[in-house]
Amino acid sequence: MEDNIKCVTCTAPVNIAVIKYWGKRDEELVLPVNSSVSVTLDQAQLRAKTTVMASPSFPNDRMWLNGKEQSMDSKRIQNLLNEIKQWRKEKHNGDTCTDGLLMWKVHICSENNFPTAAGLASSAAGYACLAYSLAKLYNVEGDLSAIARRGSGSACRSMYGGFVEWDMGSQEDGSDSVSRQIASENHWPELRVLLLVVSDQQKSMGSTEGMQATLKTSQLMDRRIQCVPESVEKIKEAILKKDFKTFAEITMKDSNQFHAVCLDSCPPIFYLTDVSKQIIQLVHAFNSSCGITKVAYTFDAGPNACLYLLEEDVGRVLSLICHFFPPDKDDLNTFVQGLQTPSISP
Ligand code: PMV
Repeated sequence: MEDNIKCVTCTAPVNIAVIKYWGKRDEELVLPVNSSVSVTLDQAQLRAKTTVMASPSFPNDRMWLNGKEQSMDSKRIQNLLNEIKQWRKEKHNGDTCTDGLLMWKVHICSENNFPTAAGLASSAAGYACLAYSLAKLYNVEGDLSAIARRGSGSACRSMYGGFVEWDMGSQEDGSDSVSRQIASENHWPELRVLLLVVSDQQKSMGSTEGMQATLKTSQLMDRRIQCVPESVEKIKEAILKKDFKTFAEITMKDSNQFHAVCLDSCPPIFYLTDVSKQIIQLVHAFNSSCGITKVAYTFDAGPNACLYLLEEDVGRVLSLICHFFPPDKDDLNTFVQGLQTPSISP
């Protein structure tokens, strides 16, 4: 009976957006109102790991996240699983009877080696990993970014290493809403990422709910949607030219604009805490004391800061952070990241 179990394990990295995705024009297909750009981080410190198993002896589909059983009723999981199975059916000309694997139930075990749902892109890594593992399990190939997107929009960007764009696309069926690599993880070896974990608690409002509230109630959101295409083009150019100053300034502006539309939602959505705001002030004070932009911050839907900087400045910036947020006083955890590791790995 040993043959009657099929098992695949994969890991996938986190990505942190420098131009944020916020708002869906189609909830079911997970189509965004704007394109976004991100940097995929090294898997050494932050990654999702997923094992998927299929067996005729499993009575039902089941799933565990960080050791705790989760409901399989989640629409995101179902959409993702159904789409991969559909690919498999198409590969076998729709003949499900001769394809036992499609009839077998699956067990999914996923774990993150960092706080889940705390605004550290855990869902991006998790769904990218799930899409990739299921594709391996069912032995199908294709643009997996469109499948990962159905789980969590930002997950489509974790399918590639380095610098990645998720093109919002224009087709109604979402076929062109896919991610692509702008430059590989080896393109800018001096770039470093510092993650400052202000809180590892789950965020107060999930991104789906937050996006809906912003789209419905924020008057500033229309303006943001108009501004983003230009920022996307400019930041892509800055990445290709390794122009840190422009890259950093656009990154900070976009983060601030994203949190401004959250604040402009009714009721307002607060993802930043006082410590997050102190980090913002510290970065601006440091940059102005240097007379040049040396560090950029960006915050996702949570209080944790992600700082982009060049390797030569890591020592100075870390000691500044340790001075203002001494490890024994505040529970601010710091991870230094590079971009050396390629994206997903089986
Ligand atoms: O992919 P989601 O639904 O978890 O949304 C992610 C939203 C942000 O992290 C705030 C921005 C982004 O582009 O990653």
